[in-house]
Amino acid sequence: MAENKGKYYITTPIYYPSSNLHIGHTYCTVMADAMARFKRLCGYDVRFLTGTDEHGQKIQTIAEEKGVTPQEYVDEVVSGIKELWKTMEISYDDFIRTTEPRHVKRVQSIFMQLYEKGDIYKGEYEGMYCTPCESFWTESQLIDGKCPDCGRPVEKAKEEAYFFRLSKYQDRLLELLENNPDFLQPETRRNEMIAFLKQGLEDLCISRSTFNWGIPVPIDEKHVIYVWLDALTNYITALGYPDDPGLYEKYWPVDVHLVGKEIVRFHSIIWPAMLMSMELPLPKQVLGHGWLLLEGGKMSKSKGNVVDPVKLIERYGIDALKYFLLREYTFGQDGVFTNEVMLKRMNYDLANDLGNLVSRTVSMIEKYNGGRVPDPSGETDAFDDDLKAVAVGAASKVEANMDKFAFNLALEDIWTVVRRANKYIDETMPWILAKEESRKSRLDTVLHNLAETIRIISVLIYPFMHTTSKEIRKQMGLWYSDVAWEDAFEFSMMSGEQVKKGAPIFPRLDIDKELEELEAMKGGDSEENTPLDLKPDIEFDDFDKIDFRVGTILSAEKHPKADKLLVFQVKMGTETRQVISGVAEYFKPEECVGRKVVVVANLKARKLRGLESKGMIMFADNEVNGSMRCEFVTTEAEDGNPVT
Ligand code: MSP
Repeated sequence: MAENKGKYYITTPIYYPSSNLHIGHTYCTVMADAMARFKRLCGYDVRFLTGTDEHGQKIQTIAEEKGVTPQEYVDEVVSGIKELWKTMEISYDDFIRTTEPRHVKRVQSIFMQLYEKGDIYKGEYEGMYCTPCESFWTESQLIDGKCPDCGRPVEKAKEEAYFFRLSKYQDRLLELLENNPDFLQPETRRNEMIAFLKQGLEDLCISRSTFNWGIPVPIDEKHVIYVWLDALTNYITALGYPDDPGLYEKYWPVDVHLVGKEIVRFHSIIWPAMLMSMELPLPKQVLGHGWLLLEGGKMSKSKGNVVDPVKLIERYGIDALKYFLLREYTFGQDGVFTNEVMLKRMNYDLANDLGNLVSRTVSMIEKYNGGRVPDPSGETDAFDDDLKAVAVGAASKVEANMDKFAFNLALEDIWTVVRRANKYIDETMPWILAKEESRKSRLDTVLHNLAETIRIISVLIYPFMHTTSKEIRKQMGLWYSDVAWEDAFEFSMMSGEQVKKGAPIFPRLDIDKELEELEAMKGGDSEENTPLDLKPDIEFDDFDKIDFRVGTILSAEKHPKADKLLVFQVKMGTETRQVISGVAEYFKPEECVGRKVVVVANLKARKLRGLESKGMIMFADNEVNGSMRCEFVTTEAEDGNPVT
């Protein structure tokens, strides 16, 4: 049994149950799970928290569209999320839902604590709100008039509201980030947040009154508490703070909040400020990971281009998927997900390197020593010494890389052992040794060393792939003992174990065939069961107000003051007019000239970066890969109306 090294508290963000989670979401949870398992194995008393963030306007709107109550809606999605974590064998200790009474009453207590401290006041909010991100912005923070986090349109919001005195904590926050480099990592995120703080902080609007799906403000029931204030507190409400503080006293402050890069600001500025106001200890570390992207850009439910983890697990197994996610991507950086990269990793690293090592070794022990792990002869050569050194030296390298959340490098350390062992088989050629009785003791040593190395590998991979670890241990006759991290530092533990060949731990994949089938599944999905995530329905009368015309693009050029905009001269009937569209990243101006397009001809004129735009060309989102495309029309009637 490992010595108790103290407590370790790790959290994931609590996910919005706006629809089912995709592989991008699972990435963070898989990392947190591997770390939790690693720390437990090393002897820490681990608490691993995850959950769901269930309030807010977005959820209320979706539920209304579906004709169910918000609670009914989230109950269903959350049960799917829990099912996903069960399938993925995520070892969380607690799952907090922000609609649970334990959370609701504690958020209200925390609100009162901030209020009584004098850090909450009533004022009037006027600004921009991004509903998908549930974020407030000032005009100056918008990029091209859109949400700076997600690039989607924002809406004007004006209402009486409660504010949190975030600005009061600006200096302390800056000090925290500047003087404690470890508090927020990676460095790029830290620099971004320092720059953000230096621009100056405004007080934060922390209540809404235009919808009611939220936790009521305890002193004013017309308002609900801003969803981020509600959500951030989950990290302590789940520990029972403030009314049942047993777990809180044991586990707080958190060791690591693992979060995606776009929500680092909430965790490294707003959350610490709230804790400062409550005079509670601050998180030890916030780590911002990168995004998993698709070749066409960000994975997004609304683009319908998400990768479903369940489908991949059904086909390749949990461990193969977890290995791929942890091995392929570098913490903190964005990475591109492709089926091909995934399949290659599964084939080369898992089926070839690890799978072969285990099956070759078990077969040789069965064939040359009646299925029992032999004892070594005592004599060693340079190959033996090198193999042992690499095998027993790996665990401390893994520890060092895990300390940095460098999962990919930790796995690379382990695969150095796997590859070294495969090379050792080629170097020592047990099948030649087996031909001569006089070399039996040398053969025994070789087989013993291979068995020991595989035993060490079974310990090292446990935090990342515990099912595979157990399967390997079963095949190696190690069923009698539990995995213990200290055993990865020892080389002489096995003697006489009865090995037993099982099915290949990772079958070899026909990559071309798999690629084809995955591609076919994608098509099937979008037709069968991926509903489009659309804006609310409009009435026919609204639609009837729009006057569509076909126009011909006479010229197109880049807007002199905005990279994203193209300025078109469009001829409709006898009139030529200027229309500006934000499509510069999708089309080259010269591609558009001469094309016929459908135009909303009666849209009110407006100025875009100093130039007038009258009308709107109908470009449409391509649901398959998120890129913009336009169906150019081919014919028109005399009056400019489209002919269908
Ligand atoms: N509810 C908030 C978090 C509140 S925490 C107090 C939220 N939810 S979310 O469901 O939108 O996102 C949860 C996490 O999933 C974020 O950390 C986000 O970065 C992550 N990911 C969503 N898509 C992702 C990828 N494509 N790739 C990697 N992570 C991604 O934000």
